[in-house]
Amino acid sequence: MYLIEETKQLADRVFQIWIRAPHVARHAKAGQFLMIRVAETGERIPLTISAVDGDSVRVIFMAIGKTTTWLSRLATGDTVLDVAGPLGRPSEIKPYGTCAVIGGGVGIASIPIIAAAAKRAGNYVIGIIGARNSALLILEEELAGTCDELHVATDDGSGGTHGFVSDVLKTALQKQKIDCAWVVGPAMMMKVTSMVTKPFGVKTFVSLNPIMVDGTGMCGSCRVLVGGTTRFACVDGPEFDAHQVDFDLLIQRQRSYLNEEKSAIEEYLVHTCQCSGGSPHA
Ligand SMILES: Cc1cc2nc3c(=O)[nH]c(=O)nc-3n(C[C@H](O)[C@H](O)[C@H](O)COP(=O)(O)OP(=O)(O)OC[C@H]3O[C@@H](n4cnc5c(N)ncnc54)[C@H](O)[C@@H]3O)c2cc1C
Ligand code: FES
Repeated sequence: MYLIEETKQLADRVFQIWIRAPHVARHAKAGQFLMIRVAETGERIPLTISAVDGDSVRVIFMAIGKTTTWLSRLATGDTVLDVAGPLGRPSEIKPYGTCAVIGGGVGIASIPIIAAAAKRAGNYVIGIIGARNSALLILEEELAGTCDELHVATDDGSGGTHGFVSDVLKTALQKQKIDCAWVVGPAMMMKVTSMVTKPFGVKTFVSLNPIMVDGTGMCGSCRVLVGGTTRFACVDGPEFDAHQVDFDLLIQRQRSYLNEEKSAIEEYLVHTCQCSGGSPHA
């Protein structure tokens, strides 16, 4: 069993938890993820390792379905059954020169550990984060401390620049040379942002988030097409060369189980409400 050492709500439906998992913390590197299972009856889900401190790892997630909602209801002192990891290949951290680390929505969770590693490797690090509105922005203060400069954008203009992270990146690219970029967020955001870096010849990595079942290369559910070749995001990624990724196929495959996912969260909410005498927060 793995102890939840701290829980905190960061934004609407976005939660941060610190879990004591020494075997994961000891080996975790930027860009890797873990698979977590709350209890025997639960599914395993992949979450990015957002930070490491001693024997503990931090994950940040949005409560969007059954498992993430279940996780969001755990409190400090609770336990989860399984934490497997670190999984996936670490980010290719090197002294590139100037690096941009770009996070959209809950994808911002993946950025601090990459920014910190890129900085340690001697790069000048430009952080760019964005969300639909300022209430959904996370980790702004932490990233301002890690990055050499931090730019913020919101879709509705309620915080930072009015617009998308891709707009902010384009402006930056017109002013200065950027040698490498990491982009993490919704598939469409990664697609659009990668289209911005391509004409500038910037080496760009994206962290792909297909549906995963085992996270160890056995089931094939995380298949993605990169440079015309099928790759498994859990063992060959999750980071890939952005300019080689078939994003349209990724988006199509992410929607494969919408009906099943909808029934799972509906059943979970009905069940937890009944067990707690009507409270949906059981
Ligand atoms: C390597 C990797 C790292 C990830 N890291 C994070 C993270 O740090 N924080 C975070 O909030 N989420 C992360 N995700 C996505 C996260 O795993 C899903 O949100 C989670 O599995 C949803 O489980 P659920 O049971 O709550 O919802 P489900 O009922 O399984 O799904 C609910 C909704 O979420 C969508 N969904 C399901 N799986 C994914 C997915 N892999 N990516 C995007 N949408 C999905 C479904 O299409 C559906 O609309 C990551 C995914 C991968 C592959
Ligand atoms: S999640 Fe099963 S092969 Fe990648």
